[in-house]
Amino acid sequence: MRRGLTHLGILVMAALIWAVVGLAGPARAVDAPDGAPNPTTSSVNEDLLFRQAPKIGGRISIPDQKAANLIQPQGREWRRFHESWMPWVGGLVILGMVAALALFYFTRGRIRLDHTEESGRKLLRFNVFERFSHWMTAFCFILLGLSGLNYIFGKRLLMPLIGPDAFAALSQWAKYAHVFLAWPFMLGVLFMAVLWVRDNIPNRIDIEWLKKGGGFLSDAHPHAERFNAGQKLVFWMVVGFGTAMGATGLMMLFPFALTDINGMQVMQVVHSLIGVVFVAGILAHIYIGSLGMEGAYDAMGSGEVDIAWARVHHDLWVKEQLAKNADGPQLGRGQVPAE
Ligand code: HEM
Repeated sequence: MRRGLTHLGILVMAALIWAVVGLAGPARAVDAPDGAPNPTTSSVNEDLLFRQAPKIGGRISIPDQKAANLIQPQGREWRRFHESWMPWVGGLVILGMVAALALFYFTRGRIRLDHTEESGRKLLRFNVFERFSHWMTAFCFILLGLSGLNYIFGKRLLMPLIGPDAFAALSQWAKYAHVFLAWPFMLGVLFMAVLWVRDNIPNRIDIEWLKKGGGFLSDAHPHAERFNAGQKLVFWMVVGFGTAMGATGLMMLFPFALTDINGMQVMQVVHSLIGVVFVAGILAHIYIGSLGMEGAYDAMGSGEVDIAWARVHHDLWVKEQLAKNADGPQLGRGQVPAE
């Protein structure tokens, strides 16, 4: 009888242990000291790990503990964005702008300069340092834009054309260009911001200019000071996007200095989205500063514009300049007197 009771007791205990283990579910992974689950435990599964911690890490003996991070689930989201979304977003934004400019060119045509009796007289619009700052920034921007687009489209569009070896060599140079030209670009943006901020503060004249569509769709020429509302938008886009591109770029250039891997992925998303909008915006600027408007390029080329052109597009600025010149002392070196 006693032996029977002992057997029964053992059976009950065994059942209890089985029930407790069964209810507890599969064995939990033994956590690493920093709280991250241990991925080497045989019973772990990926889903469980992802639910338990934002990243999966192991134990390593080298000093850089960041290397212990094996999987970071947000990386998958980032990869999906970079590989699937970004080429589409970038392609649509940039090709959309090219199509819009082509449509504008074929419907409106080149904005012509009406010749008047004043034609041929010149007015200094941008001095040497202003033109230097502009072209340094423009040169860097074009190479930054092309090398940046190579990150998104290169392996899809260029590699099939030139082959993997040439593409690898070209991409390496493109990467150097991207990283080194970022510095003079940021400097150029800073120079332009300081040089032109005074003339780019929005005011009431800009509202009227915008209401009249800047005269682009009709023959009306709304009043404008040194920069019209459209140019002010370009200026603030360059300053705002230039600063954002610089800040996000620096965070990627100095990994882990200010943010972790997840933060750097966010920076990359912001950098690439702003980048494609920036390229599209500058395409519109390049169009209007060259092919789109007769006489506009001279302002950044020689620095001097025809007074007839300036009266049409920047009438208030011309008045101000002529008034200054009439007083005498403001005439700069190389500047031809306007009257
Ligand atoms: C080959 C390309 C480019 C051409 C042909 C070009 C042409 C011009 C011209 C003609 C002006 C003077 C317009 C005026 O008389 O007021 C100008 C101004 C300006 N450019 Fe460019 N540009 C180019 C690229 C760039 C780039 C890449 C940036 C910046 C990333 C830039 C930023 C500016 C800014 C902020 C102004 C002053 C505001 C304005 O006039 O819109 N430009 N550009």
